[in-house]
Amino acid sequence: RVLLRADLNVPMHGGQVSDATRIERLLPTVKNLTERGARVVVTSHFGRPKGQVVPGMSLAAVVPALSAALGQPVAFAEDCVGEAATAVVGGLADGQVALLENLRFHAGEEQNDPEFAARLAGLGDCYVNDAFSCAHRAHASTEALARLLPAAAGLGMAAELRALGGALDTPERPLATIIGGAKVSTKLEVLNNLVARVDVLIIGGGMANTFLHARGVDVGRSLCEHELADTARDVETRAAAAGCTIVLPDNVVVAAELEAGVAHQTVSTEEVPADAMIFDIGPASALDLSKRLGECRTLVWNGPLGAFETPPFDAGTNAVARAAAELTAAGRLTSVAGGGDTLAALAQAGAADRFSYLSTAGGAFLDWLAGKTLPGVSALEA
Ligand code: 3PG
Repeated sequence: RVLLRADLNVPMHGGQVSDATRIERLLPTVKNLTERGARVVVTSHFGRPKGQVVPGMSLAAVVPALSAALGQPVAFAEDCVGEAATAVVGGLADGQVALLENLRFHAGEEQNDPEFAARLAGLGDCYVNDAFSCAHRAHASTEALARLLPAAAGLGMAAELRALGGALDTPERPLATIIGGAKVSTKLEVLNNLVARVDVLIIGGGMANTFLHARGVDVGRSLCEHELADTARDVETRAAAAGCTIVLPDNVVVAAELEAGVAHQTVSTEEVPADAMIFDIGPASALDLSKRLGECRTLVWNGPLGAFETPPFDAGTNAVARAAAELTAAGRLTSVAGGGDTLAALAQAGAADRFSYLSTAGGAFLDWLAGKTLPGVSALEA
């Protein structure tokens, strides 16, 4: 009996799984185990029910998609511990699979409660964690449990650690990172870790406005954390000391409001109209970034370069994504990307399938970029 921690926290729409990537990523591990005769007991959280039973967050909704992907029926236990779980696990034959109800219906999960972990441990003979995307959480199923049973990384977890470790710890240089997104405040630890480790740090999205403002550029009505100007200058100072080149856009697309198809213009960052907002990097900056990537051997990407969900402000992200994809396909670049928005942006650009590795992790990917210890990984190493 193998207790398998999965991340089945999948997006749903109208009661159906709307993006099965996390299920597909889990298949090699489940199949490897079932083919060798294991009875596989899959556990996961689903949403944030905060220790309460919330029927709308039942993992029962994921059973059809998991069974279809595996090509075999998946038994479902209406609780992840206790009689219901014991009965379903006890009924498994070799090579069969069960899914247990949402771990977070019990407060002990998020509390990393040793007693709750011990109840889970009673349902398996060994433990496999294939949920890198939950590795930043020190929860009972990701941390305490790994210390109670013989523990191993699943194939997906191992692949993720190889890809991410290779990209930041032992990269072929020059190493570039693209960090985008709205706010500097949410990625400050990431920026401070990266400037000490990478050769080129490309900053895009709303975050770039804060850096431009800190360099004395008037960004008009753009999203900008004016109060973080000193923080941004501090990041620049650290980068300079570490020999890391920070690249900001010098050519941007501006408009009066964020609306699809709105009137817009491309201007130099020195000429942003006082009543306008920056929503994307301009074509000259996109070209410049693409050329810079051509001089690098490794790329780690988190965060879009503009408001990619609202055309035409997807153009900058699309252009750079396609350039990175082409360089990767030509064998000139190892490209790793992670985060929900980033994967959506790369898919929209038609670039995702040519990237070397795509991480489905959000928070765990950011914590890894920030250089933090991931409790779900260190518990496996202990
Ligand atoms: C995710 O979707 O990023 C993981 O499943 C972790 O979910 P959480 O942020 O609710 O812990």
